[in-house]
Amino acid sequence: VAEPLPLCHLNGALLPLREARISPLDRSFLFGDGVYEVMPVYRGQIPRLNAHLTRLQRNLSEVGIANPHDEVAWRQLLATLIERNGGGDLYVYLQISRGAEFGRNHTPPPDLVPTVFAFCAPLPAATAQQRETGVACITAIDTRWRRCDIKSVSLLANVLLRMEAARQGAAEVILLRDGALTEGSASSVHIVIDGEIRTPPHGTQLLPGTTRGLIDELADAHGIRRRVTAVTEAELRAADEIWIAAAARGVVAVTTLDGRAVGTGQPGRVWRQMNSLLQEWRAAHS
Ligand SMILES: Cc1ncc(COP(=O)(O)O)c(C=O)c1O
Repeated sequence: VAEPLPLCHLNGALLPLREARISPLDRSFLFGDGVYEVMPVYRGQIPRLNAHLTRLQRNLSEVGIANPHDEVAWRQLLATLIERNGGGDLYVYLQISRGAEFGRNHTPPPDLVPTVFAFCAPLPAATAQQRETGVACITAIDTRWRRCDIKSVSLLANVLLRMEAARQGAAEVILLRDGALTEGSASSVHIVIDGEIRTPPHGTQLLPGTTRGLIDELADAHGIRRRVTAVTEAELRAADEIWIAAAARGVVAVTTLDGRAVGTGQPGRVWRQMNSLLQEWRAAHS
């Protein structure tokens, strides 16, 4: 795994990531009390910054943390961080915690100052082989809480699920709740049946992915049929194609699920089309 870039943003200052320190009393450390965003950067620009800032604002509102910056300040902060790290293709991780008090109390005092932290890292390059052959995934029961629409840093369930996937040599774990598809541990999941893309409806059980939003727009612009509908476990297992999508990874074809081939066992036709549309879109927006 490639190392992050050297400079980070911490509470208004730009400093070496290796020297950045926060209090152990920070509520993100004690309670997982914070939210985050992951934003891809192409040639120094974040192409869907609006979508990320909108989602960030919604997440902050949902958990009752006041947004520490307005949109102009966020844009400036992120632009400086990216530029001072040399720009190019990378991603930004941004975390806002509710802050720290002198003590540990479940109920936060009203006057906390949020902790703002951001750093850059190289995009996890999907290897040529992953693009060519797709990736293996496993399924698991969705053991997360019931507000998965919030991009919260409380990710213990996601981490445990992903550890099990890694133990089985899989790239991601695809989650099922009450017999229906929700999403991956760190990705949105799409299936394709008879040329139609299907995704489960938004709600409290999954995160509204920015990449999913982009895929929807590209599908609509290019006449690829898509439907938002509950996806049963049986439909998932019988799908012609399965994709996982996330901002830093793009859209990746899943070619085995629990050790069994998905469709032909090769990345599918609709995936190839969507993957090239995404590459074109990226080239046009950077
Ligand atoms: C649980 C979960 N769902 C979906 C996504 C995809 O969201 P986005 O496309 O905005 O990265 C992520 C991203 O990491 C995620 O963690």
